[in-house]
Amino acid sequence: MSTSSLSPSLFGKRVLLGISAGIAAYKSAHLARLLKKAGAEVRVVMTEGAQAFITPLTLQALTGEPVRTSLLDPEAEAGMGHIELAKWADIILIAPATADLMARLAHGHADDLLTTLCLATEARCLMAPAMNQAMWRHPATLANAERLETLDWTLLGPDAGDQACGDIGPGRMLEPETILGRLSASLDAGVPLLTDRDATARQLAGLRVVITAGPTREALDPVRYLSNHSSGKMGYALAAACVARGAEVTLVSGPVTLDTPPGVTRVDVLSATEMLAAVEAQQPCDLFIGCAAVADYRAAEIAEHKLKKGDGDDGLSLTLVRNPDIVATIAARADRPFTVGFAAETRELENHAGDKLARKRLDLIVANDVSDRDIGFGSDDNAATLLWQEDRDIRRLALSRQPKPALAGAILDHIATRLP
Ligand code: C5P
Repeated sequence: MSTSSLSPSLFGKRVLLGISAGIAAYKSAHLARLLKKAGAEVRVVMTEGAQAFITPLTLQALTGEPVRTSLLDPEAEAGMGHIELAKWADIILIAPATADLMARLAHGHADDLLTTLCLATEARCLMAPAMNQAMWRHPATLANAERLETLDWTLLGPDAGDQACGDIGPGRMLEPETILGRLSASLDAGVPLLTDRDATARQLAGLRVVITAGPTREALDPVRYLSNHSSGKMGYALAAACVARGAEVTLVSGPVTLDTPPGVTRVDVLSATEMLAAVEAQQPCDLFIGCAAVADYRAAEIAEHKLKKGDGDDGLSLTLVRNPDIVATIAARADRPFTVGFAAETRELENHAGDKLARKRLDLIVANDVSDRDIGFGSDDNAATLLWQEDRDIRRLALSRQPKPALAGAILDHIATRLP
């Protein structure tokens, strides 16, 4: 054992390492070694399913202790009963923690040895969740995560990135070194472990974010205008989610009927030209999210007086001119922020969004299908696909249908991983 890896606070601590049925279980062997190296006493409990991923014998060899797998094992119980084992532990660390195990623990189940120990213990309890990104994002899992924190569990991670199943997104187990580092650093400092909720609260700390939201209104005459059905809900949800992550947020808003989220500075505008001027006045910033449904055209001339029907005319021709492209203008600046656009499409969603990503020189585009009446414009829910360029490839991440505030959080979690 190298003395340099000893952690003053983990030294002599009794750590019960719980392993559940995830592919990341193969990393638990390394975690067990790291804990031993740090000077902890380690005993391992595996769920039934975990044994399909890694054998108890491997963990027994690494820890020098028998590995417990069953609640109803008379021989093992005769050695150290499960209540005794629950009392023995100073720390229970579950890595990986599957969605199912999280659900069972969140609801107080005691249907196997590991869940029973967790219910019977007074030890400090931590877990490193690991699962497919869609499973992690599922509202049921997120609700369980929240509930576990109220039950004094500390959640470490999950990390975002490539997953064993080929997806990309949040749900990777933190690397064993990171788990050990976070555990021992907080114990050494005698401070409570940072939960990921704390980490989320600081994700965009100190960053200046500018967001456009809502429709624009392009006047034709003093009483009429061209506009669209944008409600502004998505942009407002993004603004609130940025504030929750510690950012300083300016929301440049077209005409909507929403309340300004607490902590957000709101600048009201009507037309695309006004919106561009307001956004430019906020530059430079760190992150710009163009969520507004900006009208592509405006009247070449705004009539000074109300347009009148002519006697006998059966139509009216308007001359429209192109509006400036706000998001492309900001992305073209020398001091450009990380620039995110939205693409509301009714067909060939990813093709059109991919074109816009390149044409407008965006860092990321959020594509959503507005032909589906249940999501998008005006609705409280939305689903989206994030597209960005990495090396020469266009990478994508599908975010399932969920309330706009939750989707805003998921979009920002991803943006935070891509910010320079
Ligand atoms: O309208 P379009 O599909 O091109 O919009 C894609 C993105 O470009 C959106 O993020 C929208 O806010 C932005 N946009 C803009 N200025 C425009 C038109 C669109 O910033 N004039």
